[in-house]
Amino acid sequence: MRKINIFDTTLRDGEQSAGINLNHSEKMEVARQLERLGVDIIEAGFPASSKGDFRAVQEIANTIRNCSVTGLSRSNMKDIDTSWDALKGGAEPRLHLFLATSPIHMTYKLKMTPEQVLEAAVEAVKYAKKKFSIVQFSAEDATRSDLPFLAKVVKEVIDAGATVINIPDTVGYITPKEYGQIFTYLKDNVPNIGQAQLSCHCHDDLGMAVANSLAAIEHGASQVECTINGIGERAGNAALEEISVALHIRNDFYQAKTGLNLQQIKKTSTLVSKLTGVVVPPNKAVVGKNAFAHESGIHQDGVLKEKTTYEIISPELVGVPSNDMVLGKHSGRHAFRNRMEELGYTLTTEEINNLFVSFKELADKKKEITDDDLLSLLYEEKLGSAVKFYELKSLQVQYVTHQVTTSTISMTTPDGEEVHEACTGSGSVEAIYNTLERIIGSKVHLEDYRIQANTGGRDALAEVFVKINFNEMTSSGRGTAQDVLEASAKAYINAVNRTLVQKQYKEEMENLVR
Ligand code: KIV
Ligand code: ZN
Repeated sequence: MRKINIFDTTLRDGEQSAGINLNHSEKMEVARQLERLGVDIIEAGFPASSKGDFRAVQEIANTIRNCSVTGLSRSNMKDIDTSWDALKGGAEPRLHLFLATSPIHMTYKLKMTPEQVLEAAVEAVKYAKKKFSIVQFSAEDATRSDLPFLAKVVKEVIDAGATVINIPDTVGYITPKEYGQIFTYLKDNVPNIGQAQLSCHCHDDLGMAVANSLAAIEHGASQVECTINGIGERAGNAALEEISVALHIRNDFYQAKTGLNLQQIKKTSTLVSKLTGVVVPPNKAVVGKNAFAHESGIHQDGVLKEKTTYEIISPELVGVPSNDMVLGKHSGRHAFRNRMEELGYTLTTEEINNLFVSFKELADKKKEITDDDLLSLLYEEKLGSAVKFYELKSLQVQYVTHQVTTSTISMTTPDGEEVHEACTGSGSVEAIYNTLERIIGSKVHLEDYRIQANTGGRDALAEVFVKINFNEMTSSGRGTAQDVLEASAKAYINAVNRTLVQKQYKEEMENLVR
């Protein structure tokens, strides 16, 4: 069986999509989970794009030992030097260089001739090779490129030292048959192709990203670039979970395997969904809530008699627990710590102590504490915002049908002062957000607001996700509570805190540069 390398770009192509902005500790948590999942390569960001990306890529490279960590770089010396500084501490540093090769991109975006593109690509690879032993070259918009020109670029960059050649379907335009043919063409027309590994990278604009990636694997790609839950630019990237489970279930056909620990799939999907706020549709293959639910009577009858009648993937394969009701109000600290460890989180005594208090408070109100509840508590306490500039102390809302709603809030401010404020609104959430805005003292635009129940049941935790624009920055925030209004307030405050963390970090960096 051929081994297919999984190149995860959740933290780069995934994170660069609209409305997603993970903070530093969230990126670290995703990277650690990708390591547990067993991906081969983590694309941790684009080091030269911002100071925040540089810091995240650097810390991920310095921390992760069981995966190769890479970063995206334009084909110029400055980007390559910056990427080296970020990646050099990694277990196996590698660089991901890109330059567009399609007529549309060369003419309108790059304003370069094909000869100039070829020269720039070769120079960049040569320069990168002085620092990195593994250099990947991506011919951006390869699928709309002229094939003989693409083949020429591929040959020259391999001669210059590129060890991985990526053929991105940047705009999600290609069909599986055509994509496979491009790989075959390159194998037949690039004399030194055997010296490099072939990689595919597909976007989902026409809903074919996974099918295209699998077609590339069939035609010789041994690296597949993908993201958890398929998040990414526009319609997203190829979904890691779908590709890897397809390769596993249909290994009779593909004759290929990955090094993934598939049982970590569900947990990784949940983590990425909770942290990014991108909800997984219930009917999503492999990780959707209904992916293993049999609704029709005929199907249920069949599954009860013999599972394989209607089930080709067992939920256990991807780590979906058959029964995740685990703890309750009589559970002690020991059971709590054990369950956290089973979920893959080894926490310090202080973290356990803090979380255990929140757990007990929740268990007093909610009979059954599920794994999802535990994870919500964990993300809320540990990852929400490293610095709590503003913190909610108390919230009171008065709502009467057909009357103006009033909210009264007590909150600590960045100077440690406790302030009390009240405001009205046409509904409860508006009244709360008006009050918070008054305390914060400047305009906060609410761009998105979403609410969902964490589990079934009337006592389920509410999870609110917001996107705001504040201080000319867009930021997202999450809040979890048993009460939807408290969760709404927490999400808003979390987003404001995250903006202030970003602002503080930007200022620190600017002072350092001065
Ligand atoms: O879609 C794309 O072309 C990319 C490249 C930078 C690989 O993300
Ligand atoms: Zn992409």
